[in-house]
Amino acid sequence: MENREAYIKYLTQYLDEKRFRHSLGVEQTARELAERFGEDAGQAALAGLLHDCAKSRKYTPEQMRAFAARSRFQLSQEDIRLSPHLLHAPAGETVARETLGIADDAVLGAICWHTVPSDHMSKLEKIVSLADMIEPNREFPGVKAIRQAAQRDLDEAFLLSMKRTILHLLEHNMVVHPYTLTAYNQGAVNAPRVPQPAAKRRKIAGNPRHKAHQKKER
Ligand SMILES: [Fe+2]
Ligand SMILES: [Fe+2]
Repeated sequence: MENREAYIKYLTQYLDEKRFRHSLGVEQTARELAERFGEDAGQAALAGLLHDCAKSRKYTPEQMRAFAARSRFQLSQEDIRLSPHLLHAPAGETVARETLGIADDAVLGAICWHTVPSDHMSKLEKIVSLADMIEPNREFPGVKAIRQAAQRDLDEAFLLSMKRTILHLLEHNMVVHPYTLTAYNQGAVNAPRVPQPAAKRRKIAGNPRHKAHQKKER
């Protein structure tokens, strides 16, 4: 990667140590996923390295909003009010382009969409978003299953990763952006159904709100 030294210099100056180590983990994981799933490993590694480049306390909230406003993802004021943590991804696209001189649109797109999926994710964008979830420093319930799925199928792993994010947001009474739900629905509609365990099936049969039960009643 050309200019890697300059990017590392920027990241060590602007990110805290934990975020910097995470960025190196995402760089490496994105490279491996790209090799596994036939994408450009250089683009994946670059987007992985820089994906959190705007996640710095050195930028004021006003600067972050101004960066995001110059990205491809036009967050509304309501989006920002409800989910301020989303801001750093579109802001990152602008920092990568204007401060770090990244001109590759596919790389910039992958940085922009790494927190909220767009409605038509490219393979590279999925890879970087997934690498952000499963890089070796990440530890959370369910990460092992996502890592295992990422060994065999990108879409399966990406769907699991969106599911985990949505569950986390629900558990903490946090807002789920409509784009995330749209992307999840697009993935889920093509995914094989997970069969219900027998005990659960019996419970559902007794639940008047469940379709299976309604059919039986007719
Ligand atoms: Fe991030
Ligand atoms: Fe990240």
